[in-house]
Amino acid sequence: MTITVKSAMMRTTAAAAVAAFGATAVAADEITYVSGAVGNAVEDFKTIVAPWEEATGHTVTLVPMPSSTTDQFGQYRLWLAAGNGDIDLYQTDVIWAPQLADHFVDLTDAAADIAGLHFPSIIESQTVDGKLVALPIFTDAPALYYRTDLLEKHGADVPTTWEELTATAQMIQDAERAEGDDDIWGFVWQGNAYEGLTCDALEWVKSSGGGQIIEPDGTISINNENAIAAIELAASWVGTISPEGVISYQEEDARGVWQTGNAVFMRNWPYAYGLGNGEDFAVAGLFGVTTLPTGQGHDTSAATLGGWNVAVSKYSDSQDAAISLAIYLASEEAQKTRALVASNLPTIISLYEDADIAEQQPIIPQWKDVFLQAVPRPSAPTRQDYNEVSTLFFSAVHSVLSGNEDAATALADLELDLEDLLE
Ligand code: GLC
Repeated sequence: MTITVKSAMMRTTAAAAVAAFGATAVAADEITYVSGAVGNAVEDFKTIVAPWEEATGHTVTLVPMPSSTTDQFGQYRLWLAAGNGDIDLYQTDVIWAPQLADHFVDLTDAAADIAGLHFPSIIESQTVDGKLVALPIFTDAPALYYRTDLLEKHGADVPTTWEELTATAQMIQDAERAEGDDDIWGFVWQGNAYEGLTCDALEWVKSSGGGQIIEPDGTISINNENAIAAIELAASWVGTISPEGVISYQEEDARGVWQTGNAVFMRNWPYAYGLGNGEDFAVAGLFGVTTLPTGQGHDTSAATLGGWNVAVSKYSDSQDAAISLAIYLASEEAQKTRALVASNLPTIISLYEDADIAEQQPIIPQWKDVFLQAVPRPSAPTRQDYNEVSTLFFSAVHSVLSGNEDAATALADLELDLEDLLE
């Protein structure tokens, strides 16, 4: 696939953005930006910031962090609590705003002219007690990736329920292995005990009529029959259609198996789309994406709402330059480049009509409605406690996936733990 980035145009717009937001480059600052990195994120980031560096004279160093959002959160919380002045900007997960808000600069005024270009729900998710704590740089909603060649070869349809996925994955895996492909697996996903499992398991539960762990009004809903059945079904995949090791997989592990041609289905975020179509991968041109399945008898698929933002540290010594960079990263220009090079979903509404994006990364316009209907994790109703809520949830699910306890016991205990935590 060819990806064209109009760098001359980008430079002009970066300069215009700098002028518009009043950040004049009197002295060249060295800006430090911390971010988790999946796929080619480090290289892509250099491409994205180059026009801003050129226009302002500032330089940006990306400090790559572990790809697990849980690990990033733990580290950032320590740095911020210590008032670390070495880091100017943090790339922040959509769920963190309420917990980290006190450490970040209010961007309401700086972003006054551009906030309205973004989906209002995302700006709202980053607004805590009237303070805009981070600016969106991309949003996220997962897909079911499927191998078009293998489905066709075995006369199978794209599954619409988890039960169909289970049966189709098993059938193709068995048939391919019988032909000598010992490495093939039916379905790869994120089963490690971390935030990614909260996302996957919320999807199984919600799409099976089991609610969303804690409802928007604060009701703890997770201990119910539909949730129990959904998690039991997922546990049945471990060692059958999914490798035993899936219970330690994160996004990149699943993508590794998928891209080498060793999985029929994969649950992953849109970043894996552009990468999978890279020329050097076995699956390039051989896969499609669709919405995640529903539980049998239920008709609404559920995609967990993800996404990343940029926040300026209150402890930064280069706040003007950092704010200018944050505005640039959230801008239409930077988001377009990001969409083209990394197949990340923009948060700028107009980019869903962009012809270059539609041509080079067709998943993006296709995914607008998936994102608009995505299910949020309960970070708004649980605020300061979200990380602990999520940790309790993914730990309970992980113990079922690992075969340590059944889902009925795990969810009954989880309900008690959540009550203790939140009451
Ligand atoms: C993706 C999502 C993010 C989520 C993470 C879990 O990066 O964008 O919101 O927390 O996956 O692994």
